[in-house]
Amino acid sequence: MSIIEKALAKQQQKNGQNSEQVKNALSKEEPANDKASSEIITKDSIDINKAALFIDKKSLEDRGYLIDNGTRKSIKDEFRQIKRKLLNNAFGNASKTLNHSNLIMVTSAKPNEGKTFVAINLALSIALEQDKTVLLIDADVLRPSVMRELGIEDNPGLIEYLLGKSEQVSDIIYNTDIDKLKVIPAGTPHHLSNELLASEKMANFANELANRYPDRIVIFDCPPLIGVTETIVLANLMGQALIVVEENKTSIANIQAATEHLNEDLALGLVLNKAIRSHKDLYGYYGYGYGTQD
Ligand SMILES: Nc1ncnc2c1ncn2[C@@H]1O[C@H](COP(=O)(O)OP(=O)(O)O)[C@@H](O)[C@H]1O
Ligand SMILES: [Mg+2]
Repeated sequence: MSIIEKALAKQQQKNGQNSEQVKNALSKEEPANDKASSEIITKDSIDINKAALFIDKKSLEDRGYLIDNGTRKSIKDEFRQIKRKLLNNAFGNASKTLNHSNLIMVTSAKPNEGKTFVAINLALSIALEQDKTVLLIDADVLRPSVMRELGIEDNPGLIEYLLGKSEQVSDIIYNTDIDKLKVIPAGTPHHLSNELLASEKMANFANELANRYPDRIVIFDCPPLIGVTETIVLANLMGQALIVVEENKTSIANIQAATEHLNEDLALGLVLNKAIRSHKDLYGYYGYGYGTQD
């Protein structure tokens, strides 16, 4: 059974209990552990001298992102559920069986399924509601959009670091005016951008993040799986992966094909994006659900 089949089978067992719009099926899910999510941050020691970047929260909210102003309860609840499972895997008992349990990749079979939307919302959700620091990395280096979506100007980032132009990891980590949210931009596009993701330097970088900041969630907004071979290489550096599936876009067969080479040890989650639509909302009403499309 492939990882995706296991995740789907597990989900199918649970069907019937799920009335909520957002669910994800993490293969190493364990019971909620509030203690883990309320751990005190002891190592938040990155020395960042740069000014905090301003995030335009009103604009984010207008575009459907999760902003903690007491409205859009549904999207908040949806991401809370996804987040809880990820945090349990990262810091609870399951973390012992995962390598780099705090490193989470967000990917999808194809472009435009909502990876960046999910990665940003997840980061906001963790930063706004938890006493955990979250580092959001734009690793979709050929089609970077995290900074643009956040309304932040471009800065040197991952590419510069992987090319050796920025020497220290701390050079490319930026504080934002959301207290617990730090970002690493993709940086300037380079003709070897994707190849750099599969480099030894990238592997060392992931090790460094996992070892230096084990109490921090690191979210990688990654390229899609189909057509970008380096995404599979990136998956080997992560403890957890969220696969965003746009409803009615990608077939289960496609998802299976795209995920069959993923590292078996990954805790794998599926997020069904744009599941429910109505015309009331500018963007349509987007919900989330498990990856079963029947
Ligand atoms: N659930 C959602 N609700 C509202 N807009 C969404 C949702 N998911 C994706 N979008 C929008 O759809 C577009 C594509 O999503 P994006 O996250 O950029 O895809 P990807 O990163 O997978 O290429 C973006 O404009 C994004 O804001
Ligand atoms: Mg994207």
